[in-house]
Amino acid sequence: MVKNIIYGDYSIPYVGSKRGIATALMKEMLKYKPNATIFIDLFGGGGAMSFKALCYDFKKVIYNELDTQVYKAMNYVIECVNGEHKSKYGIFPENFYRGINRDEWEKLNINNPADWLLKTINSFGTNINKGYLYSHEIEQNKIDLENYCINPTEENYHKLELIFQDNENLKMIKLSQTPTERRLFMKILSKTSKKNYLQNLQSLESLQRLERLQRLQRLQRFNNSYECIDLSKYNDDEVIIYCDIPYNTPSTKKLYVGEFDYEEFYEWAIKNDKAIFISEYNMPACFTKIFEIKKTSLLGNHKIITECLFCNKKIDKAGQLSLF
Ligand SMILES: C[S@@+](CC[C@H](N)C(=O)[O-])C[C@H]1O[C@@H](n2cnc3c(N)ncnc32)[C@H](O)[C@@H]1O
Repeated sequence: MVKNIIYGDYSIPYVGSKRGIATALMKEMLKYKPNATIFIDLFGGGGAMSFKALCYDFKKVIYNELDTQVYKAMNYVIECVNGEHKSKYGIFPENFYRGINRDEWEKLNINNPADWLLKTINSFGTNINKGYLYSHEIEQNKIDLENYCINPTEENYHKLELIFQDNENLKMIKLSQTPTERRLFMKILSKTSKKNYLQNLQSLESLQRLERLQRLQRLQRFNNSYECIDLSKYNDDEVIIYCDIPYNTPSTKKLYVGEFDYEEFYEWAIKNDKAIFISEYNMPACFTKIFEIKKTSLLGNHKIITECLFCNKKIDKAGQLSLF
């Protein structure tokens, strides 16, 4: 079985990301495919499952995504991980590390992958269509907070004093040496403060974490619809094919590019001679539910939801996938 060689969860902040449950899903699929050496993520999005697969020693990882803007953003992130755009603060250019205000956010050009990514991490629920991340009321405070993390001058410290007026522990932040340490400290301060100052710091952290992956040669990328990826050249045993489709509920199916044809997808999956793993809430009865896990929805409402993993094949008495 492939080994887990890098620990942690990695992804682009993305609506519908599997980041929190990627390890659980991977372990489950590996139970049925212990000899797999190739991982195919047909609905790649923010890449949580592709990055998770890169943490294991799969020989090859394939990321596919239909939305060209998302696909280009993924390419840009890979360039960053490979050290092509680094700044003094880390693998991303400087403007990723400071606060972006509403006017700057409006002006970002989403056809440019770097701007798309910056706009996404500064959007409510990491969804560009939901608007700028902060309400007018807290916008300036958030920006001051982030700017201190990056640039801890006396002038910027004074702005923090105005935000955390009554917090005795604030001066401790001066002892922290790096932006990451200051962010961590800020989190602790925010927890004891009345307002929620955490959201954007978290998006940025999840991007920064990608730094640990380093050179990503094993990742192949495609910008296509799922059915165009040629699966015929793989043996069923050697490959895990994972589909994180847009979930079929009124609110989730509108989150992504175009309109998803569910009937066509079900037919494609059922007719496929290989095992296909699918994340969804519900699937037609001809699919087998093999796993479920509870998680907190990140779509703005923080509800507890049950995520399920289905397969197009039946499970036999020995707990193996029966392909015919
Ligand atoms: C639920 S999201 C995937 C999230 C991803 N697993 C992650 O963790 O970030 C579904 C993705 O499928 C993409 N998509 C929609 N229709 C597609 C198609 N026909 N082929 C491939 N990707 C498609 C959407 O653009 C969206 O990024």
